[in-house]
Amino acid sequence: MSNPPVDSSGPSPAPWWSDAVVYQIYPRSFADGNGDGMGDLRGVVERLPYLAELGVDAIWLSPFYKSPQADAGYDVADYRQVDPLFGTLEDFDAMLADAHQRGLKVIVDLVPNHTSDEHIWFQEALASPPGSRERDRYMFRPGKDEVPGSGDGNRPPNNWKSIFGGPAWTRITEADGSPGEWYLHLFDTKQPDLNWENPEVQEEMRSVLRFWLDRGVDGFRVDVAHGMVKEAGLPDWEGAAAMVEGTEVHREPMQPGDAPGAHTDLEEPHRAVSPTYPPSPFFDQEGVHDIYRDWHRVLEGYGSDRMMVAEAWVEPAERLARYVRQDEMQQAFNFDFLLAGWDAERMSESIDASLAAAASVGAPCTWVLSNHDTVRHSTRFGLKDPTTFPKGIAATDEQPDAALGLARARAATLISLALPGSAYVYQGEELGLPEHTTLPAEARQDPTFFRTRGAETGRDGCRVPLPWAADQPGYGFAGSHSLTAAPPWLPQPESFGPHAADQQDGVSGSTLELYRAALAFRAGRRLGLGTFAWADSHAPESGVLAFHNGDVLVLANTGFASAPVPEGYSVALSSGLEPAADWSGMREVPVDCTVYLAKN
Ligand code: NOJ
Repeated sequence: MSNPPVDSSGPSPAPWWSDAVVYQIYPRSFADGNGDGMGDLRGVVERLPYLAELGVDAIWLSPFYKSPQADAGYDVADYRQVDPLFGTLEDFDAMLADAHQRGLKVIVDLVPNHTSDEHIWFQEALASPPGSRERDRYMFRPGKDEVPGSGDGNRPPNNWKSIFGGPAWTRITEADGSPGEWYLHLFDTKQPDLNWENPEVQEEMRSVLRFWLDRGVDGFRVDVAHGMVKEAGLPDWEGAAAMVEGTEVHREPMQPGDAPGAHTDLEEPHRAVSPTYPPSPFFDQEGVHDIYRDWHRVLEGYGSDRMMVAEAWVEPAERLARYVRQDEMQQAFNFDFLLAGWDAERMSESIDASLAAAASVGAPCTWVLSNHDTVRHSTRFGLKDPTTFPKGIAATDEQPDAALGLARARAATLISLALPGSAYVYQGEELGLPEHTTLPAEARQDPTFFRTRGAETGRDGCRVPLPWAADQPGYGFAGSHSLTAAPPWLPQPESFGPHAADQQDGVSGSTLELYRAALAFRAGRRLGLGTFAWADSHAPESGVLAFHNGDVLVLANTGFASAPVPEGYSVALSSGLEPAADWSGMREVPVDCTVYLAKN
């Protein structure tokens, strides 16, 4: 008698990214493997055991490609080379193999909206005449109302401003020395926008995708995913008037070994739609979706487990959901949740809207609280108004209440890790690192600081090299090289000492141990794939956020009075500083604390 046929038609397992916890590595600030003061790929390899032990599923590396570093690598001069600052392609391959061996997926950054002005294509465009094939790879235009051939076009083609401050257009000098065309750069002068109408640009970026897919990467974080296509005719935009006036000033990027202060050139969450202005002609245009459908097919050619995550600052949630339709990208960062601040009503609304929008297109939600462009949540939540979103914090600005900010950050993290979907963790948040809020102006590197003449402090404060060992120079940023290493590329504040990883490892109640415990709990209960429902005790108007994820009840208290633990439940994990031994007796959730509750 033959065996009955096996039914293998059951539901296929969810793809890995549906519930992945992704750890963002900002390579220049994660770990320095050669002692030159700059983080690098060897440094990443040395710390992979730490990441595996932390319990994350994947790492995303911000750009490490060849670049003059005018925007910390988001200005790519060669998409297929590793910048010597960070190592070599062989170092990348070794890092990828090691990560994979440890069960970690690897996502790399793709920067398709613009290249560096040092990219061979831009150099060729400068050396070629107007109207040439070389110029057509970028957005070159004559000046406004310029009479062809008259050379009188001394006004930029339209009124757009750079997201980093200052004009979005720069005029070039033609090869013969005459005043020439203008080129568009939504970001720094050194980041010319590509012309995505041009098939050569489209093919080149497909080829870049294949280059990294062939090496074995698991996915791409797509930079400015809402920006590549501009409205036909490049019309003026009413909203431009409200963008920060700025300057063309751009100093040289800092190199390892340079003293802080030798150099200088934010993007802030640049929203595609604002309540006051008509939709921007340079963000969230319909045409971007054709690009993602195309790339979806490229990735499909490599099987079903490669992914893309969109960095798209668009609202409302339904607009963002369009980026993760079934034939486009797999994930999009949920910045609405990041912007909700420490406020139960806003978080509650954001959770509802985000889950509904993602479900409408069958995509997983993502949860993000910090990244390399935003003030760390441990600091934002320590400000008088924990819903504000400063563009960097300087010594002369309001300084946060560090202890309050950290308590709220730990509590917010437990919320985000218990929600269904995928969560992103920005390097250092697992150490409870604060923003560096007193960096001297001469140490600053972020182009926004310079382009806005300091009106925006910029993003340097969240990019400070990590502290690994409290007693080592540079807080052990350079690992075994620390005693002889060059100082880290940005100075670290003294407050980093107690946050160093070696001070927290194995210490019950530390933020590092809280993250490890929360990630293990999340994995054990499969919360990322779980089913969400608001609980009876959910009362955002009183500051209490309460939801079920499967059998787990999550209760977060952002209010002013402690909240009771519902009957029949006991605390399985708390964001508070009390020892775990005290949890079993806990019947009240204190203010600024989140607990995971299990049924008795
Ligand atoms: C978004 C990146 O996250 C940011 O760091 C960068 O400056 C801009 N895009 C421009 O590439």
